[in-house]
Amino acid sequence: MAPARPRATLDAALRERRILVVCGAGGVGKTTTAAALALRAALAGRRVLVCTIDPSRRLATSLGLSQLSEKPRPMDLSRLAQGETGSLSAMVLDTKRTFDALVERHAGTDEARDRILQNRFYKQVSAALAGSHEYMAMEKLLELSADGRFDLVVLDTPPTRNALDFLEAPDRLMSFLDASILRYFLRPYFVAGRLTLKIATRTGTAALRLADRYLGLQFLQDLSEFFLAFEGMYDGFKERAGHVHALLREPGSAFVLVASPARLMLDEALYFYERLREKKMPFVGFIVNRLHPDPAETSRRRRAPAGNEVDVDPDLAARLVEVYRDQQRVARAERRALARIEVDTGEAVVLVPEFEADIHDLRGLHEFGKAIL
Ligand SMILES: Nc1ncnc2c1ncn2[C@@H]1O[C@H](COP(=O)(O)OP(=O)(O)O)[C@@H](O)[C@H]1O
Ligand SMILES: [Mg+2]
Repeated sequence: MAPARPRATLDAALRERRILVVCGAGGVGKTTTAAALALRAALAGRRVLVCTIDPSRRLATSLGLSQLSEKPRPMDLSRLAQGETGSLSAMVLDTKRTFDALVERHAGTDEARDRILQNRFYKQVSAALAGSHEYMAMEKLLELSADGRFDLVVLDTPPTRNALDFLEAPDRLMSFLDASILRYFLRPYFVAGRLTLKIATRTGTAALRLADRYLGLQFLQDLSEFFLAFEGMYDGFKERAGHVHALLREPGSAFVLVASPARLMLDEALYFYERLREKKMPFVGFIVNRLHPDPAETSRRRRAPAGNEVDVDPDLAARLVEVYRDQQRVARAERRALARIEVDTGEAVVLVPEFEADIHDLRGLHEFGKAIL
């Protein structure tokens, strides 16, 4: 059975939890939802930080800012609320900077640190490495959760194609750094020095010769130096990843899953939900965004006053009926799919309608938040 009052469930989470992770597939409205929930909690009196790593900077637009910075920036809520409110700050996560900070923390010696930070390969890939966006978001969360200035941190997750990437990123990044095939076959030559590497590319394995021909000696050297420099840091990385997992499982944390009402998207959300349960992550509910209205319900609410009938061309009338039925079919299919989620999971499912226009300012977020709660 679904909870009787899904909105109350979400509302309670906004009042009580310390971390709220907003996840879901790309384009379903995660960033908007994260900002709207954060605003809602702030208006209810909490000191809230919303953190996004959305490279398209949509959150900044939604908050009415031309840009967001890496440092939490307080928003002006005075026009939205009359009385006492909490506060809302927003920030955008810079993946590269967070990665650098992580290297600084775990490098052991200054020399090792500089070797990595100055490595050409590192400079190029640290922001693009598989899973690094997601991993860094988690890393930052660990830091922010200990920040006494905020009661609640709302984390907008990256626009990954697959929502699961977010949870599995730490493992993937780790295994990439730990067991890269490149690292495996480059290392011995590098350790022996540049000359050996040079000779090796002439006389060594076909794979090395090929790599040298297409990538160049300098590249190979940077690459092997990169992996070599990371050696000794894996333990530190793994330990942090372990802390993040523990933090996310605490009862003060919560996951919200945003989905669109399309069947396929709901299936994906359900799948993600199962994975969250497997990983024992605290879940507070689904937010299904951009629901289509059922014209039968809206027209009942807005029935035209009697005696106001207009003449409508029968051909046009027939086509309007067709449009009406189409909309009804869409709306009903969505509601059937939603009912299944409620029955299958027993979790709170909160609905948000499709708005007429994009949400691009605090007022819009406020409306969105009111529609949720
Ligand atoms: N319920 C809604 N009605 C109308 N527009 C919406 C709604 N939810 C989101 N949008 C718009 O859709 C776009 C994508 O939303 P966004 O939150 O950036 O998605 P995501 O972060 O999941 O990629 C934004 O321009 C946003 O304003
Ligand atoms: Mg987004």
